[in-house]
Amino acid sequence: MHLVKLGGSVLTDKAHVTTLRAANLRRLAAEIAASRQEVVIVHGAGSFGHIKARKHRLQEGYLDDEQLPAVAEVQRDVRALNLAVLDALRRAGLRPVSLPPSAIARLDDGALRSLDLDVFRRYRDLGFTPVTFGDVVLDARRWFAICSGDLLMLALAEAFRPESAIFVADVDGVYTADPKRSRAAKLLREVGPANLAAIDTTAKTEDVTGGLGGKLERMIGVARFVDRCVLVNGLKKGRLLAALRSPRVVGTRVTP
Ligand code: IPE
Repeated sequence: MHLVKLGGSVLTDKAHVTTLRAANLRRLAAEIAASRQEVVIVHGAGSFGHIKARKHRLQEGYLDDEQLPAVAEVQRDVRALNLAVLDALRRAGLRPVSLPPSAIARLDDGALRSLDLDVFRRYRDLGFTPVTFGDVVLDARRWFAICSGDLLMLALAEAFRPESAIFVADVDGVYTADPKRSRAAKLLREVGPANLAAIDTTAKTEDVTGGLGGKLERMIGVARFVDRCVLVNGLKKGRLLAALRSPRVVGTRVTP
């Protein structure tokens, strides 16, 4: 089995609220189907989540009652994105089932406290493709908080020990610096705890779930439980399909 995280930067236009990048979604769904591999899919929220979550400081948990309509709205928006993902996967010939974290996961101070893994297991056994996503979730200390797709990737990797974990993003991989700002930025073929310090992770982010540094740490965490953990560019045709088919693909391999 392969664990695939479809990043919000590929599925949505992050600059415009609730805007789908439908052609990218269709292509990635087709690549997953064409691979004929068993997958469990996690997708990010992109502009269906981050923009309103940031505006209402949902990542900090409960601050005041005025956030509550925003919690309901962001949950609704990420579901709308999830529905679009399910439709694309169904049209590509898969049998996706939606497992919303708001119903099957609990956080404790932002960390994942519980996730109903048995539903994933049962649907997989029956030949379905489980699809889960970044969501607003109950939190024991903060009342509610953001559960990112990366947090789910870590829990699912630990539970199911997949062959690979593939993170699909809008860049070719991890660079020594932000490639959108620095021409000297070099693509790294491999990243692990040893060369983490050499990477400039200070690039600004509007994401409520943090920047590159935190993401890399979570990916290194995922790498502990899988044979292969890679970051590939989902804007380039065929990269995801290649990553699902063979270990050799343009991207960055993350090692524990
Ligand atoms: C964020 O999930 C969830 C919400 C903001 C509700 P992710 O952190 O996994 O989303 P992307 O991939 O960065 O868009």
